[in-house]
Amino acid sequence: MRFRGTGDALIRLLAQRAPPPFWHEMLVLAFSLLASPDYAPYAVVDQTVEAISRDKKGSAAAGKFVNALLRRYLREQSHWQQQLAHEPEAVWNYPDWWIRRLQSDYPQHWQHILRAGNALPPMTLRVNVRQQSRQHYLEQLHAAGIQALASSVADSAVVLERPVPVQHLPGFASGAVSVQDAAAQLAAPLLDLQAGQQVLDACAAPGGKTAHILESVDCELLALDHDEQRLQRVSDNLQRLQLSGQCRAGDAARPEGWAQGRHFDRILADVPCTASGIVRRHADIRWLRRESDIVQLATSAERILDALWSRLKPGGKLLLATCSVFPREGEQQARRFVQRHTDAVALPAPAQMLPDDDSYLAHLEHADSSIPDRLASTHDGFFYAVLEKRA
Ligand SMILES: C[S@@+](CC[C@H](N)C(=O)[O-])C[C@H]1O[C@@H](n2cnc3c(N)ncnc32)[C@H](O)[C@@H]1O
Repeated sequence: MRFRGTGDALIRLLAQRAPPPFWHEMLVLAFSLLASPDYAPYAVVDQTVEAISRDKKGSAAAGKFVNALLRRYLREQSHWQQQLAHEPEAVWNYPDWWIRRLQSDYPQHWQHILRAGNALPPMTLRVNVRQQSRQHYLEQLHAAGIQALASSVADSAVVLERPVPVQHLPGFASGAVSVQDAAAQLAAPLLDLQAGQQVLDACAAPGGKTAHILESVDCELLALDHDEQRLQRVSDNLQRLQLSGQCRAGDAARPEGWAQGRHFDRILADVPCTASGIVRRHADIRWLRRESDIVQLATSAERILDALWSRLKPGGKLLLATCSVFPREGEQQARRFVQRHTDAVALPAPAQMLPDDDSYLAHLEHADSSIPDRLASTHDGFFYAVLEKRA
């Protein structure tokens, strides 16, 4: 997925006719492997031809086609690489509309944001501070031979030098830690929670932020999501972490179906969005989205926010969160909300957090034995606005 723009462009340049989808996918895969120093070109060609000839969706003819195309590419590699330099999708490995959008939204930072989304992210953990301190958990990791350091982004976050299966993490099964990016770990602290408060997590599944809220304070929490299957994951997570909260299926935009007259001191609105800030973790997102999704998702988020506002007590706080870098879903959404609701005050908040650069990738490539400090500041792209209701 991090190479699909280049692969698509090479196929367009090299094939006289568009190949069937399966052949196309096998070629993208082969081109991505050819770009890696880890594989010998002859082995990539040989294995691709063999795989496609044997597969029921392929054939001997498919094998011949793929063989000819890959060999032609390898014979004239520098020529084809020069051709690619003229195609933004091939250079950046994002759809054209995504690149243009970031260029216009971030004239200074668009290249940085695109590069950050192509880097391999580190594995970041949230320490369950109900069970132990972050420092204590870092010591446990060290004792288990897992290199890690404290994040400078969030107080509960720990960044691993190299990813490990969760079963290898000390205390994972009994809820000592969860996997969660450092930027996502800012939601619970930004809610400014007090013991005993009525708290609504309106778009809760799979429950990362729900659990963090419950790890932070004893409160009356309602976790809502309109997707029942995803909601089950919230219950599973709370069970592993030994936390309790009420889980309920419902549409956040229609409180009459679930609120039963309740009003809340704090509301977390982690609204559905394009997820453009987390493409480094979910590399396929960029290819699955269409540009029209931005307005469509922002409009649906707007309906949710307006409905939730009616459920917030005077003096209460609503936290708008999205894992997007498109301003229409963050900055503009928050600004429009305050214009519509004269009883809303925007309090200081991180606002748009841009994903960090590709230093982590460089770190992996250079295989440093010490953990560089810059790992401490790595995080996904996120947006936060804290909206207080006048008393
Ligand atoms: C960004 S995810 C939430 C991630 C979650 N807060 C976490 O930290 O693990 C957005 C969630 O909103 C839910 N959702 C979308 N539209 C909704 C609606 N109208 N009412 C309630 N939930 C909705 C989706 O099912 C999805 O689980």
